[in-house]
Amino acid sequence: MRTKLIVANWKMNATIAEALKFVAALRRHMQGSPDCEVVICPPFTSLYALDEALSGTPYQLGAQNMYWEDAGAYTGEISPRFLSELNVRFVILGHSERRKSFGETDVAINKKVAAALAYEFIPIICVGETEEEHNEGKTLDVVESQVSKILDGQMKSGLETLVWAYEPVWAIGTGKNATPQQAQEVMGTIRKVLAQALDAPTADKMRLLYGGSVSDKNAGAFLKQKDVDGLLVGGASLDAEKFAKIIKSFSSPQ
Ligand code: PGA
Repeated sequence: MRTKLIVANWKMNATIAEALKFVAALRRHMQGSPDCEVVICPPFTSLYALDEALSGTPYQLGAQNMYWEDAGAYTGEISPRFLSELNVRFVILGHSERRKSFGETDVAINKKVAAALAYEFIPIICVGETEEEHNEGKTLDVVESQVSKILDGQMKSGLETLVWAYEPVWAIGTGKNATPQQAQEVMGTIRKVLAQALDAPTADKMRLLYGGSVSDKNAGAFLKQKDVDGLLVGGASLDAEKFAKIIKSFSSPQ
């Protein structure tokens, strides 16, 4: 049985003060423990403050990116060593904004995943097609290729902890989400590709998330899909009340 997972990706939003206010508001709106794992991924600058603020709560901490080397002349980068000093358990890798704006390739993401596993972080690996690829009917080919390149040469130990987020690029921040059926089709294919590349029991243990214009209105419909084990939420995760509703849709999917 895969534990359901909801991840907040705040992107480059929220100061430390705003992050702390959000946590207080989320706890107020939730009134009790969630029925799933919940991870908050703030900007690096808020990780330390949130590490303290989330201690003793059911909410876990994640980073939005990480470099693969431990230390050295990599100005501006954050090492897994630094993250391991905090209670960071999860790290988002290969988000399409990093691929598009910062030139991240599947080869770089592959190295980041290897480093994350070596530090026993749980990588949340983002894959998904652009609008052009979608319109040309290349979705499954693109996603299969991304998954294979990222898995290439990975050590077997810890692989079952990997989380894959299917985020169609055209759905991110656009208000134009994939339909739950489209998400299921792609995510079912991802699980098949994982089973072929590794083995069925490992693929069965991996969690698959949908991301792209998730809202408190559509979350429940995604969660009903067989291969959707959770959600990666951007914009709607910045509003504590909406995010609490999304978390609660696990207990009572509409
Ligand atoms: P969105 O972002 O929910 O604002 O579309 C999702 C993401 O980029 O992870």
